[in-house]
Amino acid sequence: MKIACVGLPGSGKSTVGRQLARRLGLRFIDSDQVIEQRIGCAIREFFEREGEASFRDVEQLVIDELTLGESCVLSSGGGTVLRPANRQHLHERAHVVYLHSAPEEVFRRLRHDQNRPLLQVADPLARLRDLYTARDALYRETAHFVIETGRPSVATLVNMIAMQL
Ligand code: S3P
Repeated sequence: MKIACVGLPGSGKSTVGRQLARRLGLRFIDSDQVIEQRIGCAIREFFEREGEASFRDVEQLVIDELTLGESCVLSSGGGTVLRPANRQHLHERAHVVYLHSAPEEVFRRLRHDQNRPLLQVADPLARLRDLYTARDALYRETAHFVIETGRPSVATLVNMIAMQL
């Protein structure tokens, strides 16, 4: 069984995904970590040096491989849904949950995080609102079900997801 978490950066994909994997006895894989192993440096550095399109090319290869690979809970980078091939591969090969968070909620969580290249801008909240507007429909199209991350604890979110599988 393969389960994939999609959603904005900071929506809890890794935190929830890791706990869900433990609960289901599956391996947890973070696509960003696999990409970093592949490119041999931090994603932020790669973005600056090679540009976003090159990053998306590597990301597409990794998503293709991981969605064909062993059973796991996969946390996919927030921008994976931008490419139609990724949306199709995730949807057809995994049970996909969209961890839906309002941009304001994500902003509260990520305010002090220096590792998100897309948020290294003068007004990160405006940036998150733009990302949300551009991507919400793509996350919904990719997912089989949506979970609201606002109030529940991580344990409750894991229960909610496990019930839908
Ligand atoms: C990105 C999100 C990041 C990472 C990269 C690009 C995006 O992953 O893949 O910095 O486009 O939203 P997280 O969603 O895990 O932060």
